[in-house]
Amino acid sequence: MRTKLVAGNWKMNASKSQATTLITGILAEQDRFNDVEVAVFPPFVYLEHVASLLQGQIVVGAQDVSEHSQGAFTGDVAAPMLADLGMSYVLIGHSERRQLHGETDQVVARKVQAALFVGLKPVLCVGETLTERDAGLAKEVVARQLNVVLEHVGVEGFFNVILAYEPVWAIGTGKTATPEQAQEVHACLRGLLAVASAELAEKVRILYGGSVNQGNAAALFALPDVDGALVGGASLKAQDFIAICCAAQS
Ligand code: PGA
Repeated sequence: MRTKLVAGNWKMNASKSQATTLITGILAEQDRFNDVEVAVFPPFVYLEHVASLLQGQIVVGAQDVSEHSQGAFTGDVAAPMLADLGMSYVLIGHSERRQLHGETDQVVARKVQAALFVGLKPVLCVGETLTERDAGLAKEVVARQLNVVLEHVGVEGFFNVILAYEPVWAIGTGKTATPEQAQEVHACLRGLLAVASAELAEKVRILYGGSVNQGNAAALFALPDVDGALVGGASLKAQDFIAICCAAQS
């Protein structure tokens, strides 16, 4: 039985006081979803502040990490620094990083390795663009993105990875994958993990992301291979995020 994980990706949003309001709002209702693991991913500058407010089953993670452990990399943040702050998770390979910052599958794989090395749990994002989906390449694209990382960190390492399937065309567009589309890709990803190890396939959680909201969350969470959600826009409003967490409560 895989514990559901609902992850809130705040992206480059919120002020310090908005972060406080949001977290306080979520904490006030956490009894309603205490079987669910919840993680929030604020911008780097608010990580410590948010961590200081959190309690219970809600944890905090970063939105990105450097592949390097230290050195002359202006503006980057290293995995040992995140571990030093007590972070639990880190998002890696989000499509906005891949598209806007040119992160290749190889860079993503090295970032996952860097995170695992210090005991952080990477949330590895994979997903196809609309052009790729229209060309019938969705499964091929996510398979490539997954396999590069799997080969790099090995089966042992991958036990600590969480996968997030985020079709690029569904992110921030209000267009969610249908339950059939989501299940098809999630099952494909789990099948690829099973080729490496049946135990791995059974254990790894696969989140769905892309315009998840309180209206569509329950149908997604009911799918056999969906183990939670990576939520962007709806994670910025306490009540919307709480409703999604409640939908994940068994
Ligand atoms: P969205 O973003 O929920 O706003 O579509 C999801 C994500 O980018 O992780």
